[in-house]
Amino acid sequence: MSVDVLLGLQWGDEGKGKIVDYLTPKYNVIARFQGGPNAGHTLKFGNTKHVLHQIPSGIFHEGSKNVIGNGVVLDPITFQKEIAALEKFDGYNKSALCLSRKVQLILPTHRVLDAAYEQAKGKDKIGSTLKGIGPTYTDKISRNGLRIGDVLAPNFKERYEKLKERHFAILERFEYEYDLTEDEAKFFEAIEFLKGFDLVDSEYYLNEKLSAGENILAEGAQGSLLDIDFGSYPFVTSSNTTTAAACTGLGIAANKIGDVFGVFKAYCTRVGSGPFPTELHDKIGEQIRENGGEFGATTGRPRRCGWLDLPALKYATMINGATKLYMMKADVLTGFDTIEVCTGYKKADGTITEQLPFDLSEEVTPIYESLSGWSEDLTGISSYDGLPETVKSYVKFIEEKVGLPIEIVSVGPDREQTLMR
Ligand code: GDP
Ligand code: IMO
Ligand code: MG
Repeated sequence: MSVDVLLGLQWGDEGKGKIVDYLTPKYNVIARFQGGPNAGHTLKFGNTKHVLHQIPSGIFHEGSKNVIGNGVVLDPITFQKEIAALEKFDGYNKSALCLSRKVQLILPTHRVLDAAYEQAKGKDKIGSTLKGIGPTYTDKISRNGLRIGDVLAPNFKERYEKLKERHFAILERFEYEYDLTEDEAKFFEAIEFLKGFDLVDSEYYLNEKLSAGENILAEGAQGSLLDIDFGSYPFVTSSNTTTAAACTGLGIAANKIGDVFGVFKAYCTRVGSGPFPTELHDKIGEQIRENGGEFGATTGRPRRCGWLDLPALKYATMINGATKLYMMKADVLTGFDTIEVCTGYKKADGTITEQLPFDLSEEVTPIYESLSGWSEDLTGISSYDGLPETVKSYVKFIEEKVGLPIEIVSVGPDREQTLMR
């Protein structure tokens, strides 16, 4: 048996949560492998709309196991809140969730550090979600972090204090005011709460599942263009968001990876700062934001919108080894006479390239090809064949340019509005 990976090919918020929820009945286990509460994965079915941050998007299906893998950074306070929200649903079952003991903990001071660093960057700020992601991964790599398994050790409080003191020493260099009293109390309450969950060695857990013939779907967070190595550095997140991270973030060998499902929107969005070559600063950009409800699921910030960027999409499929594409939010492009697609970049020296430059903030002018738009409402269409020819031509154009099949076209936020070919 193998592990299929599902991840975002753009700057996040592609609709990963929706598709994981849709695919879950085919899998025994859904496992998150990186990121943390910076993620916001929206699920919609019937009258329910729910946003998950750290808990895998398979949680609403009875019978599936949901694993938070070692590559994740977890905020216990957010975790407790997420569970409280889930407990309102019939069918939520605590035993459907387990967490790796090797997950790194986000401390209240990690969030303070995140905010202090951002404030100090001024106009160069990353636009972080301020969930403490960067400082927690920094402590992981510098070998100072605390992990979930540590909460069971008798000296946990002592180790917490030591790390907190380290953070205080750093914070002295910043003019940043903070008060930890409330958050620290909540943190320790949440740590006790966490101890009531199934804490496992997820590498053994998952490999045993594979040996027993079970199917695993690895759920990515963020997007490939926010990857710490391959994204638009430094305007990225602090983890690898690409396929290789499913191996290191779960303890799965590379030869166990099966399909890689690359999720992308029919256009592009980005939330936070950083280069975005096809960004639209005009009425069209506003219309896409309006039609698509493009406001962050975690921070509520308006998302920047622009046309589909094929060089970036091809780059993302290359570094991920994507095998199939899922195109989301086709319905949002209804109402445009023409739809532009970026097929290359013109550099400042006049040369044309289809490759991403070393620094994406370098002046590149997108080269567009115009395609016919469509005026039909797609949200009630229930099969791929029922889509207007113009939509099918758009799909075909992307398939030919990228060289991969588009297996799903999504025409609305609901689980049902998913057209599998
Ligand atoms: P994720 O982080 O990749 O899981 O994506 P988000 O949940 O942050 O953002 C995707 C948004 O688009 C959510 O509000 C979804 O409910 C919504 N969505 C997903 N697929 C579609 C679609 O095909 N059409 C429309 N209109 N909305 C969609
Ligand atoms: P999902 O999983 C979109 C962006 C932030 C910021 C940068 C760094 O929902 O697709 P961080 O908090 O990680 O230090 O922020 O990355 N970002 C996301 N953008 N979707 C996400 O997750 C994101 N997670 C982080 O806006 O620009
Ligand atoms: Mg999101």
